[in-house]
Amino acid sequence: MMSALLKLTGVDKFYGAIGKSVHAVQNIDMDVMKGEIIALLGSSGCGKTSTLRMIAGFEETSRGTIELAGREIQTLPPVRRNVAMAFEGYSLYPTVTVGENIAFALKAAKLPASEVEAKVKEVTEMLEITDILHRYPTSVSGGQQQRASLARALIRDADLHLLDEPMGQLEPQLRTLLRGRIKYYIKERGLTAILVTHDQTEANALADRIAVMEGGVLQQFAAPQTIKEAPANLFTGTFVGEPPMNVFTAQARDQDGHLQLDLGQGLHLTYRADAFAPEVRATLLARKEIVLGVRPYAVHRDTAGAEAKVIANQWLGDQSHIAASFADGTIVLVEHDRADVAVGDAIHVRLAPEDLHVFDKDTGAALSHGAHMA
Ligand SMILES: Nc1ncnc2c1ncn2[C@@H]1O[C@H](COP(=O)(O)OP(=O)(O)OP(=O)(O)O)[C@@H](O)[C@H]1O
Ligand SMILES: [Mg+2]
Repeated sequence: MMSALLKLTGVDKFYGAIGKSVHAVQNIDMDVMKGEIIALLGSSGCGKTSTLRMIAGFEETSRGTIELAGREIQTLPPVRRNVAMAFEGYSLYPTVTVGENIAFALKAAKLPASEVEAKVKEVTEMLEITDILHRYPTSVSGGQQQRASLARALIRDADLHLLDEPMGQLEPQLRTLLRGRIKYYIKERGLTAILVTHDQTEANALADRIAVMEGGVLQQFAAPQTIKEAPANLFTGTFVGEPPMNVFTAQARDQDGHLQLDLGQGLHLTYRADAFAPEVRATLLARKEIVLGVRPYAVHRDTAGAEAKVIANQWLGDQSHIAASFADGTIVLVEHDRADVAVGDAIHVRLAPEDLHVFDKDTGAALSHGAHMA
């Protein structure tokens, strides 16, 4: 069993005085293997930057331990942690050129000038900023400063690279291009990186594993595929995935040996009992109410399905998003062809048992995914 390069155990961050403090990061455990790219994904204020800054040493760890490359680092000053970080606010030295900013750590480490030059060339070509190396940070754009800051972190030989929203300022096309290049750069050199983002496409494209955070709590830490197929709870289920997962409250009952899910408004979905594992059936039947989740691209129009009334149909150039009133709410379907339905039309939607995610009504914890227990 390979041991983790980075290991966070019971890490908390409190800001401010005891009693009226903000509990920004709550009891986080996290293992990162050497060579992995991890995305910290979550909405604004969920504790991403705080987590990164504690690992880098720019913020005190209120509780818990952080181990990196076999040593506890949470009390060490930043310079002794061997961690490179690209900051959300760039933090370039304003008095030296962009090129000197990028080369700074390598020069300080007394690397031969030719080697420094080669490395700067490599990373700045990759990030498309070779033309601004002689300029000062304040005279270049935000997107250029951001790439300079990223270059300054990536160029370093460190145990761990922390990248806080490294592409937030870039326009979509450049972002998409650089995303692929950055991943290749990191993987080719065997670097280990944690990248903060609130862009789930970026997290999915770049990361080996995604750490989903909300309210200071790590909600799920898993491969993108697992997060999509088996969200740990209702938060992750509805936060990751575009458009978001449809959710309905429902009640399960045994109807002549079939499993019936009652969605209210006289609407029920009936499934063969053996469409679910026996323990899934037992779990669902034991609950008074459950929350049902189904992803928009898993909702199929089928005359055998339940009726829904179209309230919107948008063609996005490569897919149709149909919204229809269904049960006590709205259901959204994604179709890859241009859907020929108009507002007011009645459609029939089928929710296949293998596409159903079921969550606990009170805690939000996942109970089952398709036929199997969560
Ligand atoms: N220095 C500070 N003093 C007090 N509270 C802080 C401080 N820094 C952050 N916080 C609070 O801690 C929580 C987490 O902040 P953090 O910056 O880690 O979030 P984030 O996930 O990086 O958000 P964003 O996506 O907006 O960058 C927020 O409620 C924030 O207001
Ligand atoms: Mg932040």
